[in-house]
Amino acid sequence: MIDWTPITKAVNIPLREGRAVRVGGREIAIFHLEDRYLTIDNQCPHKGGPLCDGILSGTTVICPLHGQRFNLETGMPVMASQAACLTTYATRVEQGIVFVDLLGSKQEAA
Ligand code: FES
Repeated sequence: MIDWTPITKAVNIPLREGRAVRVGGREIAIFHLEDRYLTIDNQCPHKGGPLCDGILSGTTVICPLHGQRFNLETGMPVMASQAACLTTYATRVEQGIVFVDLLGSKQEAA
């Protein structure tokens, strides 16, 4: 099941940046990579840092508070011994609008 929800115009998310959006009772962070958009929970599981303000490095984001890295494709912390993983949300752009599947998915840490 997929719950595609229109979120914002794609032009509202500059290249290599993230933006937070509160929708459906949660706050998500949408990132604009070179060739696509990726979406995760905005709140870092360590101490709640706003991941939308983190620095992008390839397909990872660096939390602005303490530097934990998260893979935007899987939601997993880059150093597996740290922090819980994040929910990721399938994202697509259609006619200039960013759609996010708000059902999301979460991987289990190994
Ligand atoms: S709040 Fe993100 S690493 Fe600490």
